[in-house]
Amino acid sequence: MTQSTTCWAVVPAAGAGKRMNADRPKQYLELAGKTVIEHTLSHLLQANVFAAISVAISAEDGYWPELELSTHSNIITAAGGKERADSVLSALTAIRAKASDDDWVLVHDAARPCITSADIHQLIDTLYQDKVGGILALPSHDTLKNVQGGAIVGTLDRNHIWRALTPQMFRYGLLKAALEAAVGNPAVTDEASAMELQGLQPKIVEGRPDNIKITRPEDLALAQFYLEQQNNG
Ligand code: C5P
Repeated sequence: MTQSTTCWAVVPAAGAGKRMNADRPKQYLELAGKTVIEHTLSHLLQANVFAAISVAISAEDGYWPELELSTHSNIITAAGGKERADSVLSALTAIRAKASDDDWVLVHDAARPCITSADIHQLIDTLYQDKVGGILALPSHDTLKNVQGGAIVGTLDRNHIWRALTPQMFRYGLLKAALEAAVGNPAVTDEASAMELQGLQPKIVEGRPDNIKITRPEDLALAQFYLEQQNNG
């Protein structure tokens, strides 16, 4: 990690997380004595590579100001948006005055608390000289079906199928332009898809399987198990 270009982290954290059926957004659920988002941000801070972390928070979010990390000197609070892409764009705009177009931005879901410094360093070290950037991903071990109306209409060749994780690492200027061009497009569910729509081909860097996204209630127990394993290892 001897590179000199600045790296920023952007954390979209303005989702409601309705699939959790909880009384609060999933990033504020308790996991091993802290909230999910505190684990996520602590792990990003521990990686010790970011000039600052820009976090997109919903206007109705009363939980964020209660957290000590919300006033951390390396953490910037930005307004959340309607969709994930709007939140990322807002977090990028919040660092506009300080970031250069060539700087790297690593966008990481607030709902992925088990991210490790090893994964972050691996992504940066692999892509640092790249023109476009890329994402952490995992090869699919399951056979994937194309389903319409409850019936299978095709089987995807799993040798070509990867599951997109975060962080997703792109140059500030290209990423901001790609997201601005993609506003309102429901097919843009991650940063890589916005870049793809620009005709670019982001790279794949194999990540760790413990970098799960908290989506359903049972994911919390799994995340707790992974965090314990990481602490023991
Ligand atoms: O809903 P999903 O799990 O795909 O969300 C991924 C991340 O995007 C979460 O960290 C969530 O808080 C964030 N998000 C956001 N703004 C939205 C929707 C989701 O920051 N409008």
